[in-house]
Amino acid sequence: MTDSSEKFVAAIDQGTTSSRCIIFDHGGAIVAVDQREHRQIFPKPGWVEHDAAEIWSKVQAVVAGALAGAGLRADRLSALGITNQRETTVLWDRATGKPVHNAIVWQDTRTSALCTELGGTDGQDRFRDRTGLPLASYFSGPKAAWLLDHVPGLRHRAERGEIAFGTIDSWLIWNLTGGTRGGVHVTDVTNASRTMLMNLETLQWDPEILSAMRVPEAVLPEIRSSAEVYGTAVGPLAGVPVASALGDQQAAVFGQACYDTGTAKNTYGTGSFLLLNTGGRPVPSRNGLLTTLGYRLGSEAPVYCLEGSIAVTGALVQWFRDQLGIIRGAEEIEPLAASVPDNGGAYIVPAFSGLYAPYWRADARGVVTGLTRYVTRAHLARAVLEATSWQTREVVDAMYQDSGVRITTLKADGGMTGNNLLMQHQADVLDVPVVRPKVSETTCLGAAYAAGLATGVWSDLDELKAHWRRDAEWTPRMTVPERESEYRNWRKAVERSFGWQQ
Ligand code: G3P
Repeated sequence: MTDSSEKFVAAIDQGTTSSRCIIFDHGGAIVAVDQREHRQIFPKPGWVEHDAAEIWSKVQAVVAGALAGAGLRADRLSALGITNQRETTVLWDRATGKPVHNAIVWQDTRTSALCTELGGTDGQDRFRDRTGLPLASYFSGPKAAWLLDHVPGLRHRAERGEIAFGTIDSWLIWNLTGGTRGGVHVTDVTNASRTMLMNLETLQWDPEILSAMRVPEAVLPEIRSSAEVYGTAVGPLAGVPVASALGDQQAAVFGQACYDTGTAKNTYGTGSFLLLNTGGRPVPSRNGLLTTLGYRLGSEAPVYCLEGSIAVTGALVQWFRDQLGIIRGAEEIEPLAASVPDNGGAYIVPAFSGLYAPYWRADARGVVTGLTRYVTRAHLARAVLEATSWQTREVVDAMYQDSGVRITTLKADGGMTGNNLLMQHQADVLDVPVVRPKVSETTCLGAAYAAGLATGVWSDLDELKAHWRRDAEWTPRMTVPERESEYRNWRKAVERSFGWQQ
């Protein structure tokens, strides 16, 4: 039972495979959770879509489920925060509120050729100094351009102002605040920084990039901070201020209390995303990382991050389970991997969407290498887990080269941090301790913190920092020669993944 005057903060995490709503109390502890999966639509090899209308209905269901689980009515919520899978692109009809096509998901590679064309003679880094991003199929701008070119009549309607563009944060905020009956059309700086259409310095849409990508300004949401009241919810959440929006990886930075320059976190989900807080200035990358917004609280100065984005980590375990059928449940991978002392010489490079950081190679495809007749399913299970830690090692190295900051402890979160073998291997190959916080739902927690700061539930970052508690720690045990020889093998395996026909 809750004290009838106590207030709570809810957060919606709309992720790649599921939607979740978590209600937090004033101490940042979880009061109730609800979660539902949505469909993954694969129309062709390399294409991945979601039904945005289905996502909205799942979000409504998890909000109702979490409130029921907590035994609360909406009037006990001080604020609602949003966090979301980033880059996934929706276009909808402003008059009917209906999406004009399935959402194109961040993992989708259909815009690879368009990105090459956009690069022209300048190549992949044509817009990097302004957006912090290489031209790659990962980002939203080219996805929007693809939709405008391929849905009949859409470009014309977009130019007339009839169509709205959004990443999932915009789509949800528009629906939560009224949809066709007056919803607000906004995004926050973190999500906007993943479109490839926002200028990192001005934090506004960049007119030259819009024109190069042929995205009409009339479709775009207003760019706002990550923590402010965008509007008030209608429907079952009537009256609750919608008060934060952050891309899920930036929300995890916020929930992990990485507020000081030089602090970093790695979230192990479908993919893994390592973000280093670089403070008030965007640090350009020369080593394959992204320069991105970390967060912006109201009118305060923005905070920037360097990001190492790895497309496939947890998704490799799913592939091992669903496509190869070697395990029946994800939880079986750890005991299977632990049944052998090492990988038996096998390496798996999961370049399913090409390779992201630090390579950005659209021509990369997955490889399994180092096979001899000695290799068993257990060795492959190890290779699956080790692929996550080696990919992380590569982005940690790039981060050091770009920023000069050596990560001395890695704050980890996300589903795969429940895997002890993986976390130990991660500490071993980085040669630094890996720590997991007590509240491992750091993505939702970050969105709740930002919404609570915007509405006066919490007063400042120091108060939030004091909530952070360590749950588990893994310290490095691997010898230097072992680490170095394994790393050389991994790099050789990565080279084998390059050069496949697109
Ligand atoms: O950039 C993609 C990222 O935001 C997806 O995160 O946790 O939904 O896989 P997740």
